[in-house]
Amino acid sequence: MDARQMKIKAAEVALSYVEDGMRLGIGTGSTAEEFVRLLAEKTAEGMNIEGVPTSERTARLCLELGVPLKSLDELPELDLTIDGADEVDHQLRLVKGGGGALLREKIVAAASRRMIVIADESKVVDCLGAFPLPIEVNPFGLTSTRMAIEKLAASMGLSGEIELRNNGREPFMTDGGHFILDASFSRIPDAEALANSLNAIPGVVEHGLFINLASLAVIAGPAGAKTLTK
Ligand code: A5P
Repeated sequence: MDARQMKIKAAEVALSYVEDGMRLGIGTGSTAEEFVRLLAEKTAEGMNIEGVPTSERTARLCLELGVPLKSLDELPELDLTIDGADEVDHQLRLVKGGGGALLREKIVAAASRRMIVIADESKVVDCLGAFPLPIEVNPFGLTSTRMAIEKLAASMGLSGEIELRNNGREPFMTDGGHFILDASFSRIPDAEALANSLNAIPGVVEHGLFINLASLAVIAGPAGAKTLTK
């Protein structure tokens, strides 16, 4: 199985948790896109679901493939969200936001009764942090916010570059009109403490640590898919 086939396998298993009539949060990224393709086949065959996309990118793909969409305000409570991740640890804590959609992803996941993560086995880690942690920040006061994050990191014994994500020569702009700082901490031994402390910095809109949101992960490897639960 190549990398794409593993993503498709994880998406296929996740699709088996989708039931007729569900209100579904639909994730962002290359693995979530494989899920959208499979979901579109099901809806074309008559499965009745309503989806809430976690990004403009996912919304475009869903519209292109005919997956019925609603806004989160139209469907403020969801049955299930299926989304990818950049890292998954054994407590199902996640790093997300490599695709820049972390804020909407977290709002949608939090509005869902259940979140299932789909990923290939390269995303499973013993300790979060090798993937740079995306931190979504308000453009206003960027330098102050970055300094506050640097001070916080130092106080927690975390070190590493904190870089503004770019899109060509311009800063990368999220769907919400914010910037992203990618923090290369290498290891985040206390993800809960970092998550809470980042949330206390005023310029931080959201961060990519997803804790107590996922209850199941479908992890695909060359030999097939397995599930991880807490
Ligand atoms: C999007 O912002 C991210 O949270 C994605 O869910 C994550 O980057 C996984 O993407 P891939 O499935 O493309 O690896």
